[in-house]
Amino acid sequence: MTTTIPATQKALEIVSFGDPLKGALRLNPSASVPKPGPGQVLLQMRYACLNPADVFVVQGLYPGVAAVRERRTGFVGGREGVGQVVAQGPATSLPVGTRVVPELSDRTGCWQQYLVVDENVCIKVPEGVDDKAAAQLIVNPVTVVGMLERIEAEAPVHGNPWIAQTAANSTLGRMFIQLAKKRGFCTVNIIRSKASAAELKQLGADEVVVFSEESNFAQRIEAITNGRGLAAVVDAVGGDIGSAALAALAPGGLFLGYGLQSGEPTRVMNSDLIFKGIVVRGFCSAAWLKKQKETIFEDVFEMIRKGEMQPQVQQEFPLDQYEEAFRAQFAPDRKGKILLKLD
Ligand SMILES: NC(=O)c1ccc[n+]([C@@H]2O[C@H](COP(=O)([O-])OP(=O)(O)OC[C@H]3O[C@@H](n4cnc5c(N)ncnc54)[C@H](OP(=O)(O)O)[C@@H]3O)[C@@H](O)[C@H]2O)c1
Repeated sequence: MTTTIPATQKALEIVSFGDPLKGALRLNPSASVPKPGPGQVLLQMRYACLNPADVFVVQGLYPGVAAVRERRTGFVGGREGVGQVVAQGPATSLPVGTRVVPELSDRTGCWQQYLVVDENVCIKVPEGVDDKAAAQLIVNPVTVVGMLERIEAEAPVHGNPWIAQTAANSTLGRMFIQLAKKRGFCTVNIIRSKASAAELKQLGADEVVVFSEESNFAQRIEAITNGRGLAAVVDAVGGDIGSAALAALAPGGLFLGYGLQSGEPTRVMNSDLIFKGIVVRGFCSAAWLKKQKETIFEDVFEMIRKGEMQPQVQQEFPLDQYEEAFRAQFAPDRKGKILLKLD
């Protein structure tokens, strides 16, 4: 296969930390296309995601990325995406034509058409997983698998299958519903508007609770769980919603905070810590991944290939239309990921 590699490309750069719709981003129409060195490959990117963490990076609020911690701007955003090897550097074995997801860890950079990476950070995409699903591998599906594994290991789920999630209509939440069902859990799915309720039920949600419509949330959870309370809660919201879910935990129940959607703190009653012995922890996929076996990405791809969880897409936008893409990202009641189409 021969591909003509241009000298320049389009790249979406973070030029100041702030609002992505008010000048924090700039589309560079003529960024140079780098050349791969020893052990490296040049990827032609096909899709990249807009993830909440990417938005926090643009806003300068995400300490997981070195450039944000060090207040350095002038870099390309986007933690995850999918591309194809179009050139090899010297002493490189990954063949041209291979579809891969680059694992950029403490680096961003998928919002561009070409990307040079070490071949050893390239995760091969298997047959049977399409580009749009593959582009979402690292952030959300891995987190779903990791959180469910932690619940299986640490929550009092024997004899009580009830677990709850907030932001249940998120792209991640929709996969959580699917894989949790497959693993034998019953899910309570807490959402902020009822627009998505029927669809979440179709995906396998056992219960859907519209938080704003509940006059007595605690009583509702009592009724759903037959008085047992929730064995675990995974919370991406915090504030009133996260706090109410946490208070509905069963004795010994596990709370995993993993997202910052409301920007508000979660409140914990000391009495729940003392007398119910609940456990309150965070979940960070990057930290969890470091402790997994080498085949973890193959395993997660296999779950996607078998349809045990399906990353969904709301809409895709060419890189030039990045502002429309961010507007769609901020719109309520989405049904999946916003993707940037790069080729
Ligand atoms: N800790 C980790 O390692 C890790 C890894 C991956 C993802 N995450 C987190 O997982 C969460 C979901 O990610 P995603 O990509 O699936 O997100 P997404 O598709 O962009 O969905 C975001 C969700 O947040 C909800 N939401 C936004 N603001 C809210 C508010 N103020 N109150 C209640 N709900 C609110 C939205 O509700 P509507 O549906 O009503 O609009 C939507 O369902 C994010 O918080 C992300 O940062 C964490």
